[in-house]
Amino acid sequence: MSFKLTEEQLMIQSMVRDLARNEFAPKAMERDKTKEFPADNLKMLGELGLMGMMVPPEYGGSGADSVSYVVALAEVAYACASTAVVMSVHNSIVCESILRSGTEDQKKKYLPRLASGEVLGAFALTEPNAGSDPSRQTTKAVFEGDSYVINGTKRFTTTGKNAGLVIVTAKTDETAGHKGISAFIIERDTPGLTVGPLEDKMGLRASDTADLIFEDCRIPAENRLGNEGDGFLIAMTGLDGGRIGIAAQSLGVAKAAFDAAVQYAREREQFGRTISKFQGLRWMIADMATEIEAARLMMLSAAEMKDNGENYTLQASMAKLFASEMVNRITAKAIQIHGGYGFTKEYPVERYYRDARVFTIYEGTSEIQRVVISNLIFRDKRKL
Ligand code: CAA
Repeated sequence: MSFKLTEEQLMIQSMVRDLARNEFAPKAMERDKTKEFPADNLKMLGELGLMGMMVPPEYGGSGADSVSYVVALAEVAYACASTAVVMSVHNSIVCESILRSGTEDQKKKYLPRLASGEVLGAFALTEPNAGSDPSRQTTKAVFEGDSYVINGTKRFTTTGKNAGLVIVTAKTDETAGHKGISAFIIERDTPGLTVGPLEDKMGLRASDTADLIFEDCRIPAENRLGNEGDGFLIAMTGLDGGRIGIAAQSLGVAKAAFDAAVQYAREREQFGRTISKFQGLRWMIADMATEIEAARLMMLSAAEMKDNGENYTLQASMAKLFASEMVNRITAKAIQIHGGYGFTKEYPVERYYRDARVFTIYEGTSEIQRVVISNLIFRDKRKL
């Protein structure tokens, strides 16, 4: 196994790096203040084939591999983490779930519009009282004639307001635990679906996070994704890919914070020399660089396993766990290196710190990743 990127992967990385640093980064600080949704950035990503990266060309996508995808996503996160989370949910959970579990008609109908970025995708699993334990969700889908009628509330839906299509999970059999959950593709303008209040968040402020409220929302039966009872599996499989995406978001933000810290350390003078000359600071930088490199390798390893068709649940959880905790340490240290200036909005590191905070929470908390990892070791006797 080698982590040398191919020519094509390097080309994608360089193209996305140029786009993100030239177009997204200059607007990120202002966006954080105004909470303006990055529709312009996402449009550019769509035009370059980055909103359906792993969707095959026959459905309008780029047919890229997962390694290219995570490398691209990390570059977007480096410049604007709010844009990256929208890209991540859209590519890894929404497009891939339709690709994996959709009928031919569903793929033909939805994937081209998603892959071009014309329609944004959201994924609604979490509920007010079912976060880490989605098997206890209470949203219901009742089969009536040739349709399903959905009732319930979903919470913390990334892109809930701006998405044109949402994959929603709901109970079709309340007695069957996780096996009673099904998944549905729901278009935003479907009567009975309303968007609740947006969350006022600490970070990722330009990405919208909303409640979705379903009141007698009737959808055609052909919009069910997979069979009845497949919803939990569709969600968990989607989250496996999604979690490598969180590792990529973590890596991008960590690198941005690291670069800012190195630059500041090179310029800031105290005691008659730049602070980069002090061993205490140099060791901090050395530890930061080492942790970032470890996270990068874990992310690439999980993505490469996915590309090879191997079971990568363990590696995706480990990459997500390590990278998301790593970026919280890195951004805190980047502020420390900036001293008092790091605590102000004059420098970007305080935004990186706030943006990174949710990475140990969404798409499964660090505690849930440890449950997944330890279950695979003890229950499934998985070897490293
Ligand atoms: N791949 C395939 N199958 C899987 C799987 C995976 N990754 N994970 C679980 N399963 C299967 C199991 O094999 C099992 O199948 P059987 O019943 O046939 O044996 C079934 O699913 C149930 O699994 P568990 O017994 O492990 O279930 P559990 O209820 O004990 O624990 C959990 C499951 C790991 C805690 C899981 O519920 C979980 O990951 N929770 C966190 C949810 C989460 O990440 N939410 C984030 C939502 S999205 C978001 O954050 C917002 C956003 O838009 C960014």
